[in-house]
Order: sequence, then structure tokens, then C-alpha cells
Amino acid sequence: MASGSGSNFQSIIDAIDRGDINARINGLIAGKPHIKAIDRANRHYIPVTVLDQKAPSQFESELLSLLKSLNPDLIVLAGFLRKIPDSVVDTFEGKIINIHPSLLPKYGGKGFYGEHVHRAVIESGDAESGCTVHFVNEQYDDGDIIEQVRVPVNPNDTPETLAKRVLAEEHKLFPNVIAKLLTT
Ligand code: GRF
Repeated sequence: MASGSGSNFQSIIDAIDRGDINARINGLIAGKPHIKAIDRANRHYIPVTVLDQKAPSQFESELLSLLKSLNPDLIVLAGFLRKIPDSVVDTFEGKIINIHPSLLPKYGGKGFYGEHVHRAVIESGDAESGCTVHFVNEQYDDGDIIEQVRVPVNPNDTPETLAKRVLAEEHKLFPNVIAKLLTT
């Protein structure tokens, strides 16, 4: 599930192509139309469903029935910006994972996404940041942590340079965690 560029989604596609993950991607659920993640799915013949409904109840029922029909072993949130409804979390308990560009529990929760995360890290003067893969529960960025990778924050970092350093680690961490989860 993705709402943006889908560079993490691509890293998972590539890991499957290399044989590092033994899996098939049954579908991309896109949180918005016209995003780069959709182009990536199309290039790899991965079916796409756009779920950009504004009404929460419609979003919830469509997501739930779509996921039930896909019957996934793992649901991967790779930059999906909308909160996952409680009924979906309950139905797929322990099967939904997310990647977040900070060392959770720091800089997580509502409003901490994209550049906002990296700006807060720099403004707080932290010497390190990183990324976290965690299980999804009913709260934003709050479920059990599976794995983290740390990166240094450099004195001259801008949100953009820090984001780039963290993202490079995300592209390794996420496929590694997925591979492990699918073999245990
Ligand atoms: C990543 O930084 C991820 O940690 C966050 O959203 C961003 C998605 O980037 N949840 P991309 O769409 O995978 O390039």
C-alpha cells in the first residue's frame, strides 16, 4: 500500500526479482491516483486499486473487502498516508507492517511524516536518526517494533539530505524484514 513515489515498493519488487524474498505481490493499493508507485506497479504487471475515497466508512469497507479478496500473508505499508481503520487492523492482526523514517518511538504519530520527521530531528539536535519497521496497530506508528537501523545526523544536514540517508537504509531494511517475516 503506497501513496507516493513508491521507492520502498520498488525495493521490494527488486528484492523479489533477485530472489531475496520468496513472494508474489498480489496487488498495489494506492492511496492517491497518478502517483509514481502506480507506474512502478504497471511496469511489473502488478494489479492496482486506487482507494482515494474521502468518506472514512466507504474507505474502510472497500479496503476490508479488497484485502479479504487478496487474502495476503503480509500487508506492507510503504508510505501509505491514510490511517488503517481498526476493523482492518483487527482482521489482519500481526500481518500489517509499516516503515517509518525515524527511530520510533521518537518522531512518530499524527503529523510526523515525510519532511516533518527529518525537520524535527534536526531541530532537536539529535546526533542520530534512522528508520523503523513495525507492526501496525490502531494508533499511528505505535505497534511493536520489528527492526531499526540507525544513521548519523550530520551538522550540515537539511531535511532533504537526512531523508536521503535514511531512505537508502529503508530500501535495505524493509526487504530484509519482509524476507524474514515470510520465512518464519
Ligand atoms: C518513506 O520515508 C517511509 O518511511 C514513509 O514514507 C516514505 C515513503 O517513501 N512511511 P517512498 O514512497 O517509498 O519513496
